[in-house]
Amino acid sequence: MNPLDRYEPLVDDPEAFRAACERPLPYAVRVNTIKADRERVRAAFEEAGVAYEPTDWNADLLVLEGKAGRTWPYFLGWIHGQEVVSALPATVLDPGPGERVWDACAAPGSKTTQLAALMEDRGTLVGNDNNLGRLSALRHNAERLGVTNLVVTNQDARNFSTKPLAFDEFDRAIVDAPCSCEGTCRKNPTALEDWTLEHVRQVAGIQKGILKRAVQATREGGTVVYSTCTFAPEENEAVLDHVLGEEACRLVSFDVDLETSPGVTEWEGETFHPSVERAHRVYPHQNDTGGFFCAKLEVTG
Ligand SMILES: C[S@@+](CC[C@H](N)C(=O)[O-])C[C@H]1O[C@@H](n2cnc3c(N)ncnc32)[C@H](O)[C@@H]1O
Repeated sequence: MNPLDRYEPLVDDPEAFRAACERPLPYAVRVNTIKADRERVRAAFEEAGVAYEPTDWNADLLVLEGKAGRTWPYFLGWIHGQEVVSALPATVLDPGPGERVWDACAAPGSKTTQLAALMEDRGTLVGNDNNLGRLSALRHNAERLGVTNLVVTNQDARNFSTKPLAFDEFDRAIVDAPCSCEGTCRKNPTALEDWTLEHVRQVAGIQKGILKRAVQATREGGTVVYSTCTFAPEENEAVLDHVLGEEACRLVSFDVDLETSPGVTEWEGETFHPSVERAHRVYPHQNDTGGFFCAKLEVTG
């Protein structure tokens, strides 16, 4: 069974959805504003003959015709290869310089390094992951991109301890959760081959634990962003519904300059809290990106 069949009732244009899922994904880079600015990067690309197209919703994201890994801007840490839609959660979290921010599932660091840039490399950014091997990639990326406000921890985020830190609450947290990765099928066509509902349920359980801990570790009035690169409502909306019932938090609405669909409140006989509609679903045909899900929570107690 192709798991994408399950989502045809949810999308406005099933044919366009399926066609987009089969097309290769455009390659994009994010300008690393810790080391450069968009004018400098664009000038360097023009000089090197690298064709680029800025995206409509974020001027620091450029879609390239070829790869950029062998160019000077990449070598100098002025850019980072990052899929367009993957830049959404950090933009929505919108941390400021000087804040305390927790990236619960950080490796290999696309969003962590984007958060550092949004924080102007000031304050404390804690990048955590339970996978030590993937943490080396995070460290490498942080070094190449000149990030200095990062503390790296190797814990299971579900039981994250703030003991090694000089504080016990964050202003903001991001949970870019381990998921069934259905929305990465354009980058990795084998993503759907090993799909099972059992795996979806298993990762949903892990996501619930991590998101609950993120809400607990964030101060009252603080913000938590939850994202996945999958379409399965057993993850996304069901995870939000569970955490809304267990922790002091609420879902808040937010705007993005991308075409998106609201979170779904019903799925295969299950109903979810009506506020899950405030989350954004991104289907590949809407903006020619990968698939994505993003929700913003405010901690209320
Ligand atoms: C979607 S990836 C994160 C991608 C990363 N945010 C980025 O933008 O580069 C999910 C990550 O969660 C990590 N992970 C899985 N279970 C975890 C757990 N219980 N605690 C902390 N990290 C976990 C995985 O090792 C993986 O690196």
